[in-house]
Amino acid sequence: MTLTFCLFFFQVVTGATDGIGRAYAEELASHGLNIVLISRSPYKLQNVAAEIESQYKVKTKIIDVDFTSGIEIYDRIKKEIEGLEIGVLINNVGMSYAYPEYLAEVPNATEFSQSLINCNVVSVTQMCILVLRQMVERKKGLILNVSSASAVLPTPLMTMYSSTKAYVYKFSEDLALEYAPFGITIQCVLPGFVVSKMSRYKKPAFRIPLPRDFVRGHMRTLGLEFASAGFWVHKILLGYYTKLNTVSPSTVVNVTFTNLSGTRQRALRRLQMQREQQENGIDTAKDK
Ligand SMILES: NC(=O)c1ccc[n+]([C@@H]2O[C@H](COP(=O)([O-])OP(=O)(O)OC[C@H]3O[C@@H](n4cnc5c(N)ncnc54)[C@H](OP(=O)(O)O)[C@@H]3O)[C@@H](O)[C@H]2O)c1
Repeated sequence: MTLTFCLFFFQVVTGATDGIGRAYAEELASHGLNIVLISRSPYKLQNVAAEIESQYKVKTKIIDVDFTSGIEIYDRIKKEIEGLEIGVLINNVGMSYAYPEYLAEVPNATEFSQSLINCNVVSVTQMCILVLRQMVERKKGLILNVSSASAVLPTPLMTMYSSTKAYVYKFSEDLALEYAPFGITIQCVLPGFVVSKMSRYKKPAFRIPLPRDFVRGHMRTLGLEFASAGFWVHKILLGYYTKLNTVSPSTVVNVTFTNLSGTRQRALRRLQMQREQQENGIDTAKDK
């Protein structure tokens, strides 16, 4: 799918100052496309926008909002993008658990669940509502909704996160059918692990690409796949686990449960150590 129709438009990327979102913003800018960057931290937005403008000679606009907040932020976003033609919307912003945990044991579970739903579910829905009318009028537009492989694989101990991503998957699937007759392409992206703050993977490995490599891999699937794991290794792994899950669900559950339990134990040990060090007056800042 070619994006030349977007040349004089703006493309909106949420969660655009880091990780996968920043990589999408840079990839679009590298094709000469103007970008609206929406994220939380104003200083990071200003820095990333300045870097993108000077490197790719495109226009940028920044909007600082916290997607964990209530519905009122969409009035502001609506005002900020009023008058702009939006060619591409990338709903990338998302948050996850600090560490895998049993539902009732998640710290501040009640507030956390509301923030998670606002950030991962409400943002995708509201941003689509904001741009779809103008895309329909123009009979052209592309929306990418970033879900996660956890949407379709068993993910115990991250239940709330994976369920928000399952919403994104189903929402995208039906919305794509609803708007295809109007010339709008809607694709769901289902990444496995990618190097980022959220994943806590700091170095790339065979199955853990850098955001830039993930995004470049995914962009090759535009218009070809309704739902895409993007990166080729993730596609193979997702295909393998999904098939295995239909043949032997218990194997997949055992693998994910064991992995996530291990991560949980390590996180709890680290938190316990930090608590003990704080009680003993030891500065833990450099360990974080
Ligand atoms: N990385 C993975 O392994 C992986 C795997 C599967 C799916 N995903 C999905 O991919 C998407 C991007 O993840 P990532 O790993 O690239 O994350 P990341 O590196 O942590 O970056 C998140 C971006 O979103 C912004 N953001 C976070 N919370 C926000 C909030 N409440 N309001 C506004 N902006 C906020 C951050 O801004 P600040 O820098 O200002 O905080 C940052 O720009 C998410 O939807 C995630 O669920 C990631």
